[in-house]
Amino acid sequence: MKVILFGATGMVGQGCLRECLLDTDVEDVLAVGRSPTGQRHTKLREIVHDNFLDFSSLESQLAGFDACFFCLGVSSVGMSEERYRHLTYDITMAAATTLAKLNPRMVFVYVTGAGTDSTEQGRSMWARVKGKTENDLLKLPFKAAYMFRPAGIQPLHGIKSRTAWYQALYVAAAPLLTLLNRVAPRYMTTTEKLGRAMIGVARDGYPRSVLESEDINAI
Ligand SMILES: NC(=O)c1ccc[n+]([C@@H]2O[C@H](COP(=O)([O-])OP(=O)(O)OC[C@H]3O[C@@H](n4cnc5c(N)ncnc54)[C@H](OP(=O)(O)O)[C@@H]3O)[C@@H](O)[C@H]2O)c1
Repeated sequence: MKVILFGATGMVGQGCLRECLLDTDVEDVLAVGRSPTGQRHTKLREIVHDNFLDFSSLESQLAGFDACFFCLGVSSVGMSEERYRHLTYDITMAAATTLAKLNPRMVFVYVTGAGTDSTEQGRSMWARVKGKTENDLLKLPFKAAYMFRPAGIQPLHGIKSRTAWYQALYVAAAPLLTLLNRVAPRYMTTTEKLGRAMIGVARDGYPRSVLESEDINAI
């Protein structure tokens, strides 16, 4: 598989990149980001891009791919709805619309979150925005699209959160998170399981388009 990865510098994206580089079914990875990953690997190429609402200048480099793993995303904490929608809905749809046009055989995997509101009508702002993003992604003419809704995610293999206080929490709570991963798969996954599951659905498909933590852990 030839894979495009968005958000490769983030916690989820670093996990996905690690699994892609290790997996023999993944032939090439193109990371598209606003900053470089700092990694070197024979399978990895990178594009550093500055306008995530317009990918037209990259079109010739974005065709011929089998899968996109979209791990770019922000926390809504302290953000207005307009700003959060811009960074969540507008950026995701700009990338996905371009990719769907150029890659009709592509499987698109979007990392959203547990509690996403498919009705788009609920009281939680982030959940409505993620719900609208999921719903509109599912309308695009991809071969298939899968919405991954993890709850808690434990970073493994030295992967770090970009948010300092999240990272401090992950380190302090590591034994508890390891235990939760074992006893509560509905509420926890790891960066490794998430990355493996993205590759798995891109390669083999999945019976449902929305996957919760339990689905992700079972792949
Ligand atoms: N972490 C969790 O526990 C968790 C749980 C459930 C769901 N999720 C979801 O998973 C997704 C990824 O989360 P994460 O924890 O990996 O986040 P993260 O560590 O903060 O990484 C975010 C990624 O998005 C990129 N990004 C953010 N704003 C951007 C912008 N304006 N333009 C271009 N790139 C931008 C970042 O690039 P830079 O490096 O350039 O900033 C980085 O690669 C999010 O949608 C989140 O809601 C996370």
